Amino acid sequence: MGDAHRIGVVGLGVISRAYLDTLVGHPAVRITAVADLDASRSAAVAAELPGVEALTVEELLSSPDVDTVLNLTVPAAHAEIALGAIGHGKNLYGEKPLTADLLDAHVVLEAAAKAGVGVGCAPDTVLGTGIQTARAAVEAGSIGRPLFATAVMVTPGHERWHPHPDFYYTAGGGPLLDMGPYYLASLVHLLGPVRAVIGAAGRLRAERVIGSGPRAGERIPVEVDSHVSGVLEHSGGTLTTITTSFDGVATTAAPIEVHGEAGTLMVPDPNGFDGEVRLHELDDTRWRTLPSSAGYVDGARGVGLLDFIAADGHRPPRASGDLALHVLETMSALLRSSAEGRRIELTTSAEQPVPVPLTAAEDWRGGSAH
Ligand SMILES: NC(=O)c1ccc[n+]([C@@H]2O[C@H](COP(=O)([O-])OP(=O)(O)OC[C@H]3O[C@@H](n4cnc5c(N)ncnc54)[C@H](O)[C@@H]3O)[C@@H](O)[C@H]2O)c1
Repeated sequence: MGDAHRIGVVGLGVISRAYLDTLVGHPAVRITAVADLDASRSAAVAAELPGVEALTVEELLSSPDVDTVLNLTVPAAHAEIALGAIGHGKNLYGEKPLTADLLDAHVVLEAAAKAGVGVGCAPDTVLGTGIQTARAAVEAGSIGRPLFATAVMVTPGHERWHPHPDFYYTAGGGPLLDMGPYYLASLVHLLGPVRAVIGAAGRLRAERVIGSGPRAGERIPVEVDSHVSGVLEHSGGTLTTITTSFDGVATTAAPIEVHGEAGTLMVPDPNGFDGEVRLHELDDTRWRTLPSSAGYVDGARGVGLLDFIAADGHRPPRASGDLALHVLETMSALLRSSAEGRRIELTTSAEQPVPVPLTAAEDWRGGSAH
């Protein structure tokens, strides 16, 4: 794109730090503006970063110095910020989930298509060596024909460490909408899109207690299910059993396992960029760790945005809005299936993103995401 691509960041909470670490000083991008409902947060970031202006949200969304809005607000604000950005002709890259509500996601993507701007969405962890090496192994036939998979995420709840965890327990939150995007985006990379789901969900407690920060000890209401399980039917017929829970203490289960006719693949945490991929072949007696063979080496949050910018019309961005919409529809369908007690067929699909070739950290950090 010639000159550095200009980024305006909206939402300067916990995760913004990780993005700034990746993006500040990167040769392909320049952060020109920051905004937050809490003006003290934008002022603090602007004071730290020369050349970055602290603006109001509306000023940032309409700024002529912003090409792409990076939306790091809480899920309930994702749609409003997205539509504001698109309305001003900006590209949008946002944190997951795409929006808190499925209908809003359709509205956002339709508005973007009409305006001729791009939409990208986290997670980008799945572009790291962990998920990409696992995908390469599946595609190379190391487990033969994939038959079924398991995906398990169990934690006692983010309120134990996050200083303002309210959004995890309101619409757009819960273990599935919060953590599901990592698992579902990985499963699309590994096994293709989902055509139907069956879900079941429950809720352990009506309140949670904040465990850290200035509000430690405060009780917050739980407005969403805090345990969601289900079965996904992938378009090729493979079945995945998924569990996402804020109600359990710990688990020994692999985050994802893919079982094929000739072997089983143990896939690392999709909320991280790397981790060991292990293969157990049918006639072997032990697990073998596979060397990293694909993905952005030493990935970090923001690599999906760099990939989105590098795509620049010559290939689809990997962390795309279409994938995020499909992931959101899959999650919404699991919850609806649970509420209605029936199997749900999906209306969206997604192309498997283009695999990421093994890309050294100095390459993607130096400006060449493939
Ligand atoms: N915290 C994590 O570890 C983590 C990890 C990965 C992804 N995420 C995702 O990142 C997003 C943000 O999470 P977080 O933990 O940084 O939340 P946070 O609550 O720490 O920060 C969100 C920020 O957005 C601001 N904000 C809210 N509504 C706004 C609006 N309408 N306009 C402008 N600013 C607004 C808030 O004032 C706050 O500063 C969420 O979608 C979350 O799922 C968080």
